[in-house]
Amino acid sequence: MSDLSTLEPPKQGASIASTVKHASPFIGSEVSGIDLKKPQSEATIAALRKLLFERAVLFFRDQHLSPEQQLKVTEYFGRPKVYGEARMGSPYPGVGLIDSIHEISGRVDRWHADLTSADEPITVRLLQAVTLPDLGGDTIWASTEAAYDRLAEPLKRLAEELKAIHAVTPISISEWDARRSNFHWTEHPVVRVHPETGRRSLYVSPRFTPEIVGLRPHESAAVLKVFFEHIIQPEHQVRFQWEPGSLAIWDNRSCLHYAVNDYGEGRRVMHGTSVEGERPVGVKS
Ligand SMILES: [Fe+2]
Repeated sequence: MSDLSTLEPPKQGASIASTVKHASPFIGSEVSGIDLKKPQSEATIAALRKLLFERAVLFFRDQHLSPEQQLKVTEYFGRPKVYGEARMGSPYPGVGLIDSIHEISGRVDRWHADLTSADEPITVRLLQAVTLPDLGGDTIWASTEAAYDRLAEPLKRLAEELKAIHAVTPISISEWDARRSNFHWTEHPVVRVHPETGRRSLYVSPRFTPEIVGLRPHESAAVLKVFFEHIIQPEHQVRFQWEPGSLAIWDNRSCLHYAVNDYGEGRRVMHGTSVEGERPVGVKS
């Protein structure tokens, strides 16, 4: 456990110091003793950014942020991505509703980073739990940086040479039909270099990476299988059990996530905000 306030002298009268507890060896830290409803100092924001880039996902309990407050916290990590139209039925500009009653967007029980089929995928994502089922509905994240670091050297060299197609691959036939009209795909390097830290990550996912560029279909499928199975090894994972008001902030460049779909008819509603994207940079680009 470390102290976030070591980067900032504790203020007079502050009753609880922010503490940071790592949730697993390679990924995820829980930050307590911080009320994100209140404006944070430049030093605290810098410390949170640094911690996020190191740990890929941060967890906060009991925040209960209004949509406006969540957008304000989003700004600590860059310019919020605000779509021109309300998304997924959200009445709040810039804040998406992720609701389990929506078959497609509400239950993404497949490993992915968010919308990497974009040319400039979002960099940071914030998700706050609003309504939760009685049991279940956890989210799991896997560190794609730890996955790269722990890849065998010859496979690292292979991965660094490759580019992959990123597209919305369907969860169900109905989703494929819904997406066909606005199908978009792009190419990204298979090893991505983080612009803030220089760390390398394995930048592919089962949901968004159907194919490696330049390989035959059976070669591509075999190589991707190796990468996918490696990324999601339990050693690279952290699992978070949500409570109402819990907030998770993740670096969409250095981890994958999976929404565990184990709550049947239960309702799960989250508020999501995003930071504008950037074009992924590889080792050789
Ligand atoms: Fe997602």
